[in-house]
Amino acid sequence: MRFVEEYIEIDGEKTLLISGAMHYFRTLPEQWKDRLEKIASAGFNCVETYVPWNLHEPKEGEYNFSDMLDLERFISLADEVGLYVILRPSPYICAEWEFGGLPPWLLKYQGIRLRTMDSTYIEKIDRYYDTLVPKFTKYLSTNGGPIIAVQIENEYGSYGNDYKYLSYLEEALIKRGVNVPLFTSDGPTHWMLSGGTLPHIWKTINFGSKTEESFELFKKYQSNMPKMVMEFWIGWFDHWGQEHITRKGEEVAEEFKYMLENNISVNFYMFHGGTNFGFMNGANYHDEQRCTVTSYDYDALLTEDGDLTKKYHLVKDTIDELKEKINIKKHKNYKEYKVKDSKKIACGKVEFKESASLWNNLNILSKHYTSPYVKTMEELDQDYGFILYKTKVKGVIENMPLTLQEVRDRALIYLNGEFKGVIDRNNKQEIILNCEKEESTLEILVENMGRINYGPLLKDSKGITEGVRLDRQFLFNWEIYTILLDDISNLDFGDCVKDVENYPRFFKGTFNVSEIGDTFLDFTGWEKGVVYINGFNLGRYWNEGPQKRLYVPSPLLKEGENEIVIFELHNNGEVMELFAEAKLF
Ligand code: GLA
Repeated sequence: MRFVEEYIEIDGEKTLLISGAMHYFRTLPEQWKDRLEKIASAGFNCVETYVPWNLHEPKEGEYNFSDMLDLERFISLADEVGLYVILRPSPYICAEWEFGGLPPWLLKYQGIRLRTMDSTYIEKIDRYYDTLVPKFTKYLSTNGGPIIAVQIENEYGSYGNDYKYLSYLEEALIKRGVNVPLFTSDGPTHWMLSGGTLPHIWKTINFGSKTEESFELFKKYQSNMPKMVMEFWIGWFDHWGQEHITRKGEEVAEEFKYMLENNISVNFYMFHGGTNFGFMNGANYHDEQRCTVTSYDYDALLTEDGDLTKKYHLVKDTIDELKEKINIKKHKNYKEYKVKDSKKIACGKVEFKESASLWNNLNILSKHYTSPYVKTMEELDQDYGFILYKTKVKGVIENMPLTLQEVRDRALIYLNGEFKGVIDRNNKQEIILNCEKEESTLEILVENMGRINYGPLLKDSKGITEGVRLDRQFLFNWEIYTILLDDISNLDFGDCVKDVENYPRFFKGTFNVSEIGDTFLDFTGWEKGVVYINGFNLGRYWNEGPQKRLYVPSPLLKEGENEIVIFELHNNGEVMELFAEAKLF
């Protein structure tokens, strides 16, 4: 790909890039091809993906590029299907993803300055890039592969203005052999564009509407270069406890038409959103913290389970309508694909016959530490999940406020084994305690609900980050249990004990599948927790909504008996039911 004034040229042919975003790490690998074919069948010529550092380097210096993280396979599939690839491998990706894709172990380094030339931060990026970049250089278009452009940083102007850092990242790619066009992408404001761009690097912009106005402002930063909207927000994500957000397809199609008519290339964010499996959702903080729900449906062109939407057809029709007037050069492997929606199944009600209490399984599930003061998850090499703090308090407690100074994010409090309430980051972080005993045991179970992925509070350590006080007195000498919940296969289950309000428990049940298909788990009647299907962490549920059912992709199921384990924090329901339809609100 090269630029000839305001045109993009591929193999000597002027073209628009019509790209669809899909994140391979949000869709099971068995489904990648289907989704890619759907991008191609809409008349698009390109797919765009981020690369999540936190998953590829889960422990410092240990890398994972297999299964759902097989980036090379994803790129090869795109090539096979006939799509060019735009790659956004920047250390930070935002994306409503845990910590914006940064690995939480970075926070072990006290004082680290993220997204700057801070030497510790840079040293970690360099080591990661030494492993990551060689994995994709062979797929660059300059080496005969599908990758035509690579991003340097993500919306950097929304965060900072360290141009040396941006230049360093540019150089970090170039010196490792990346010789296709590099780019930055930023919001359409003067601050964002002046902070996030480099004079000699191709600039792209992100927005959901007002294309004409945005490019008017953009002229000051770039002219006589191809115009591209790197993120055209055609839908949006949801937070727990807030309304479900959608966007009209007609509006999207109209804005898109304007782009096509005005030689503007575009990447649809998202073409296919997928799912925040496991503990991978991010969070936002404005006046309070809001965590992103498990679904990343995004009201995109494909649903979370990959079906075609009305919006998909409107967009495809817009391309068809203008096809005589525009040029969308197709990749050499492009074919016409017959695409179809996936099979959906209802599996009925799951009854839970066995259960296991968290407390009785701590020895199986946790690592135990002692410490004079409370430590954060990161200080104890724990990335995700839960952490339990336990201490003894001497003396009668009379109307004393218990304060968790900077708890992240949500804690269940127990005094002498009795549940006393929830403290979360958004409330006063305090409850009143009373106890006539001379010695009490205080236990605090904290959930990491997803690190902030955007904005000035990005540096978001989890657990209790400052201290625990009874009135003004800090409490010291703690036993700490880190509970990752990455492997629940050895839990010691017994008969099902129900209605144990506010005492976290695992509930095990089975359901039968006669013909494999996608299904949706309805958690009505349950309060808050995590679901495992055949050992795979499907993600969180919460009765705050808007999401009411969790997507269970067909590759997780097998014919015959399937196992489901629910980790419920507060109140279990009687059953859960698997339906053939999604329910996002
Ligand atoms: C920005 C980011 C994306 C995503 C969107 C909102 O544009 O660059 O990663 O967070 O906002 O969905």
